Amino acid sequence: MLSGKHILLIIGGGIAAYKSLDLIRRLRERGARVTPVLTRAGEEFVTPLSVSALTGVKVFRDLFDLGDEAEMGHIQLSRAADLLVVAPATADLMAKMAHGAANDLASTLLLATDTPVLLAPAMNVRMWQHPATQRNMATLRGDGIAMVGPNAGDMACGEFGPGRMAEPLEIVAAIEARLGAGPLKGKRILVTSGPTHEPIDPVRYIANRSSGAQGTAIARALAALGAEVVFVTGPADVPPPEGVQIIAVQTAQEMMQAAEAALPVDAGVFAAAVADWHVVGAGDRKLKKSKDGLPALSFAENPDILKTISQRTEHRPPLVVGFAAETNDVLAHATAKRARKGCDWIVANDVSPGTGIMGGRENAVTLITEAGAEEWPRMGKDAVAARLADRIAAELA
Ligand code: CTP
Repeated sequence: MLSGKHILLIIGGGIAAYKSLDLIRRLRERGARVTPVLTRAGEEFVTPLSVSALTGVKVFRDLFDLGDEAEMGHIQLSRAADLLVVAPATADLMAKMAHGAANDLASTLLLATDTPVLLAPAMNVRMWQHPATQRNMATLRGDGIAMVGPNAGDMACGEFGPGRMAEPLEIVAAIEARLGAGPLKGKRILVTSGPTHEPIDPVRYIANRSSGAQGTAIARALAALGAEVVFVTGPADVPPPEGVQIIAVQTAQEMMQAAEAALPVDAGVFAAAVADWHVVGAGDRKLKKSKDGLPALSFAENPDILKTISQRTEHRPPLVVGFAAETNDVLAHATAKRARKGCDWIVANDVSPGTGIMGGRENAVTLITEAGAEEWPRMGKDAVAARLADRIAAELA
């Protein structure tokens, strides 16, 4: 929670500025006081009236506004807050900061401040990838400036790639982490993620199309809220999150052992796409072609990790969250799965090929709890993760 915390929010000139209005609401819901600063370019995207209506205070806009200087000088303004947040942080603002320019109110505040600064960059993908921006970012990191995002995805300009501003809840989580105020502080959470690889022989295996992106995003979002995360991952395509305990496994059986070894935990999130079967007698010799015909593989069932942990009597986590990846009758299958496995929540999604969800960057989920089904709009996997982490924090509070 952020009660008693004071955030100075600088809104730069980018289309993502509209998300900053939601950010203000989220911060105020959590008890933060928000003092807004709108750059000239920011005013082209959101109006001072909407910003002051949402913050409940006057918007600071101009360095040479004498009224403001009389009431509160820019030096004082830059130091009164617990944290300076720049969202969206444009390429131009980042360039000014990296070079110590101070030619408007926002850049002057950023140069004059002695409080920590968090940037939420947002810009066109080419601008983000330009060596100049990357250089500026490295300089800013070296200066101790924290960043959240940018995320990859479809951009307002029609292009695709990194450059999209982090979602408001991700920014809130980064703010809380920065202020040591994360609602999951002191909670230990297990997350399983990625596919499993079931060997056929030492060089071949059976796998599935899971990239591990959703589980990784969930682990990152939980850690950002202050949780101690034990991340048990199969061989994923995406790099593991920072700031979590990583336990890398290959098979479902190894994942089962690692998950049990992580107990007790306050919550378990089972996002892994675990193979249902393994090949019996997968030895340490490579199968060779033979004149006697094709190899006959026989399968045995893998342990059901979610079900086993949900039905434990000792050390059953107070909150167990499973996933249901379905290709048809999603709601019916997922509701039945929740009962069959004995978990508390199921995050259901449609992974039929037409959705592009399996291995893709977006997800459209329905959260099934004891209270019923709650359909969430299609959004980036990072945004799904932030929202789920937020729900878990509320449940464990
Ligand atoms: N799961 C697990 N261990 C397994 C299989 C699945 O922990 N051996 C978990 C997954 O991590 C997920 C949930 O169970 O949270 C549902 O996975 P899914 O593959 O959709 O379900 P299955 O149990 O395989 O059921 P079905 O074959 O009926 O789809």
